[in-house]
Amino acid sequence: MDTIHRGLNGVNVDTSRICSIDGEAGRLIYRGYDITELADLASFEEVVHLLWFGELPTRSELDALRRTIAFDLPEPVLDMLAGLPKGTHPMHALRTGVSMLSAFDDDPDGVDESNVRRIGLSLLGRVPALVAAHQRIQAGGAPVEPDPDASVASNLLRMVNGETPTDAAVRVMDVALVLHAEHGSNASTFVGRATASTLTDAYSAITAAVGSLKGPLHGGANAAVMQALEEIGSVEAVEKYVLDTLASEKGRVMGFGHRVYRVMDPRATILKDVSRKLAEESGDSKWFEMSLEMERVMEREMGARGKQVAPNVDFFSASVYRMLGFEKETYTPIFAIARVAGWMAHLFEQYADNRLMRPRLVYEGETGKAFAPIAQRG
Ligand code: SDX
Repeated sequence: MDTIHRGLNGVNVDTSRICSIDGEAGRLIYRGYDITELADLASFEEVVHLLWFGELPTRSELDALRRTIAFDLPEPVLDMLAGLPKGTHPMHALRTGVSMLSAFDDDPDGVDESNVRRIGLSLLGRVPALVAAHQRIQAGGAPVEPDPDASVASNLLRMVNGETPTDAAVRVMDVALVLHAEHGSNASTFVGRATASTLTDAYSAITAAVGSLKGPLHGGANAAVMQALEEIGSVEAVEKYVLDTLASEKGRVMGFGHRVYRVMDPRATILKDVSRKLAEESGDSKWFEMSLEMERVMEREMGARGKQVAPNVDFFSASVYRMLGFEKETYTPIFAIARVAGWMAHLFEQYADNRLMRPRLVYEGETGKAFAPIAQRG
């Protein structure tokens, strides 16, 4: 009973039928389908259906799913966004917005399957709408109306950039959303499941998950990667940055390493290729070239140290999002937009066969102390 697993490393808290990660082989599957095939062939909405219902949708099921995704935000929520101070971090705005949406839901607290699915469909569109509205309001603009017939990927680009996106940009966005949709019991999904295990509502669980994802050790790493690349400034300066970081106390190069993967994250492999193609097409290869150099130096240095530290999903997504025109503060909100799919799939699973999550701490404090009245405490 007193064995301690710090960071819950290697601890199985339940079974699941949603996602499997082979950290040694670098393989990821959603409901039996390999991520490489899904990234290549599936839309984000098809993956949502797969994660939530266990199977890829038929054409009519996909159309029905798309028709029920709502992007409209209640006016008081838009007023809240407009009232946020300039410079409010988008993840603070998103966490606040998700929480506030519960006040405008007719049944925010029901945890039966149909009500939680309804909330999930509401958040699939309203989370990107919150992210885009916040960015445009902060830039002094106004929220952009979504196209009710367009996909989440297309509407995200439209609502952020204010124009109809190219098919190529939509496809890249779709791939990124598919790759970020689900990843087993990562920190934010665990937080969501642990929150739901008290049978509190789905809005509370997703709000908690958004808060967890923001951290630089988790979803916040993609923005931290771009922050580093901007600070470094050139391919020639990458090596010194990496060596200085590794030489610093507990130095971590953002976008590298993973609790489960011992080899390169298969999502990073796909995003590396996407980044390469975007760099070739755009002619702006700076960020991709700098990322390649950072990968080269880290591979050499980690190999020399005998450590299995490779690029993770957050590493090449930074250059991809930069070349799609997103500000770096929006990278983690984009991760959240995609992960609503996985978070909700896990909430369905948790609510359907729940057991309250309540781990223990081994007490190492003092015992047997006698209470002294305050007058005697000096
Ligand atoms: C995500 O869990 C998921 O599935 C998450 C995610 C998802 O889809 O939900 O995949 C998304 O969060 C990806 C990870 C994004 N985070 C980062 O890129 C931040 C930088 N990475 C590290 O902080 C770290 O690798 C973690 C947090 C990701 C994992 O940390 P662990 O498992 O606790 O491993 P550790 O920090 O104990 O490192 C083990 C060794 C250490 O050597 P020692 O100190 O024991 O000698 O590997 C080294 C570390 O020094 N190491 C790194 C490193 N990551 C690990 N060295 C330099 N740079 C790094 N990034």
